[in-house]
Amino acid sequence: SNIEKKISEKMINSEVIEREANIRRELPDSYAWTTLNEHPSLESDSVPVVDLNDPNSLQLLGHACKTWGVFQLTNHGIPQSLVHAMESAARSLFSLPAQQKLKVARSPGQISGYGFHLIAAFWDKQQWSECFTIVGSPLEHYAQLWPQDYTKFCCITEEFEREIKRLASRLVWLMLASLGISKDDVEWDGPKGDDQNASAVFQFNSYPSCPDPDRTLGLVPHTDSSLVSIVHQSNIDGLQVFREGTGWFTIQPVPGALVINVGDLMSILSNGLYSSVLHRVLVKRAQHRISLVYHYGPPAAVKIAPLAKLVGPSHPPLYPPVTNWNEYISTKAKLKGKALPSLRLY
Ligand code: SIN
Ligand code: FE2
Repeated sequence: SNIEKKISEKMINSEVIEREANIRRELPDSYAWTTLNEHPSLESDSVPVVDLNDPNSLQLLGHACKTWGVFQLTNHGIPQSLVHAMESAARSLFSLPAQQKLKVARSPGQISGYGFHLIAAFWDKQQWSECFTIVGSPLEHYAQLWPQDYTKFCCITEEFEREIKRLASRLVWLMLASLGISKDDVEWDGPKGDDQNASAVFQFNSYPSCPDPDRTLGLVPHTDSSLVSIVHQSNIDGLQVFREGTGWFTIQPVPGALVINVGDLMSILSNGLYSSVLHRVLVKRAQHRISLVYHYGPPAAVKIAPLAKLVGPSHPPLYPPVTNWNEYISTKAKLKGKALPSLRLY
């Protein structure tokens, strides 16, 4: 596997260096996506914005999950100073020289580390982005990236993760509460409401400026396989969500707001009352966009199936049960990032 690691490093290595050399010139063919304009891009401010302090936030949030599968959240309780510290740590990571970043290149079969987006592997074309993924502690990676300063970066990341995990857990229970589900109706292990064992994948995405932004993608259309994902998209747009029968809507950044995506596992739990949102990312000619994405899932070994309370004679289960989050991710890989089809489609 050391040899495999060397080979994959070499691949990332040459891609990154080649792209950096091309950055101000032209788009290499390997990055040109012909499917990009199959559907119109629509200007819209109608992706719902939910204020967590609003007395009606529970209904508003439930409605947003039913109709869009995504919303922007304000008054979420995460201090702006912490979000900005995390964003600038991510920026300094991506601005390290390629050789330095490659020291923490993701090895085959691993999730943690630096490289391309995990779904890149399923496509022949390249995406105009790079990312850094953390599962568990960032220490090992940071100690290699910033030998002098790693404790500082670890502190920021750990504090940010602590806060965002609390928010993610709160959102999951609010989304379920909005469907009349309480903690007692959910059968995953541990004392009810104890989210200590929840799993999470934390990802920093970087979309460098691009000489030909209209012909390439930062990230291919996909749904998140989490229960819920929380995105800080800095102040640069690029994230778009798809609505059946209409097209792609840009999520215009609202200062201080976080974007909340319904993930596939939430679609399954809610028996299709909520559906995960298909989204993609476009890139910019002159701006370097960064995003921070926290994918929140159930404890690793837990079975996910439509909740008993949401299944009945007039609401048959729409999804087969999933053994656990990991199994779901590998099933989904074969679907190239699209959500598990509901049984209705079989
Ligand atoms: C993602 O879907 O993981 C990326 C979201 C973004 O960059 O805004
Ligand atoms: Fe995503």
